[in-house]
Amino acid sequence: MNIALPPMGWNSWNTFGPDISDQLIVETARAMKEKGYLEKGYEYVVIDDIWSLHERDENVRLVPDPEKFPRGMKALADDIHALGFKFGMYSCAGLLTCAGYPSSFDHEFIDAQTFADWGVDFLKYDFCNFPPYANGRQRYAMMSMALKATGRDILFSACNWGTDEPWKWMDSIGVHMYRSTGDIHDNFQSFTDIAKSQLNNFCMSGPHCFNDIDMLTIGMYGKGNVALGEACTTRDYQTQFALWCMLSAPLMLGGDVRRMDPDCESLLKNDGLLRINQDPECRPPQIVYRGRVVSREADPATGGRWHEYPDCGLTLFKHLSGGEFAIGYFNFAPLAGEVPCLFADAGLPAASGFGLRLRDAMTGRDLGLQQDRYDLTVDGHGCRVLLGRLEKIG
Ligand code: GLA
Repeated sequence: MNIALPPMGWNSWNTFGPDISDQLIVETARAMKEKGYLEKGYEYVVIDDIWSLHERDENVRLVPDPEKFPRGMKALADDIHALGFKFGMYSCAGLLTCAGYPSSFDHEFIDAQTFADWGVDFLKYDFCNFPPYANGRQRYAMMSMALKATGRDILFSACNWGTDEPWKWMDSIGVHMYRSTGDIHDNFQSFTDIAKSQLNNFCMSGPHCFNDIDMLTIGMYGKGNVALGEACTTRDYQTQFALWCMLSAPLMLGGDVRRMDPDCESLLKNDGLLRINQDPECRPPQIVYRGRVVSREADPATGGRWHEYPDCGLTLFKHLSGGEFAIGYFNFAPLAGEVPCLFADAGLPAASGFGLRLRDAMTGRDLGLQQDRYDLTVDGHGCRVLLGRLEKIG
């Protein structure tokens, strides 16, 4: 199965946790179609943990909870497919799922076949309750084989939270995306820590096997299953989406798409950012600046007229196909400050005689032909993302 671009879709966990049902999944898929998410590429609809009964049936097969999924999974998958989506489900490599439901340890081949029989196109495979006597790599390899043995194309989405440096070996065992960090929470600290922790591992992410820094929380605004800590603002969500896009990370929505805030909805469908995420070359960005941000706004904490925030500035420079480049400026400090981009750090010194013709990726606004450097004042917790092309000066 050739997964050439970062997978895009929706997953039930971040907002709904245990409160999932046939009705919710169908309503979500319908909303994604009607509101144009499918058209933008969000094609996987994935049911996470807490979908089954606690006991397997007499044939040792997993059984959907009849209260939540009264029609069973095949009928639901058929409806999801009829709407034009691919259908995803969840299991776990351990003895029980994270929420304590039956898991696929020693049932890899029968469970893979069950998923294939139901019409599943995507399997998220977690790592809770993994027995200490077993080998994690081998069990992920086993489920990968079990999925292949079904003969059905099923995207294998491993989720071992970075255990044993998955960026070094998940690709080799046929996995298509792998979670590299612990669970995201719907707050600024959580998602920025997650993205920063993986900046240097994206050189091992790309076509066929993507580093997955978890489902997005955009649009949750402090409500839902992973709404812990201080709720995000719309600006925080822009920064979240821009980070995931600059890294070419999988884009799995975690909010309630049926009632998404309009600003968040247009963010998730922003063509400039999606073009960067889905660039066919899927190159990792270069880190051209990582360091302090100096803010000249009065700091409410100290009352000082300016304040320095160590390690809060980040500039990412990404080569795209078709002779384009993306530049992402991030300010993780709470107050506005300058984030630099010296073109020489990306290989373009002033003496080259070339500059970059820049435009704002989110708004399309033309920013002119810039030479040598282009620094920006970025709002606190904010970002700016630009697209550019080389152009001869003069
Ligand atoms: C783990 C995963 C989450 C989610 C839950 C479900 O914590 O990392 O993404 O699937 O399990 O219980």
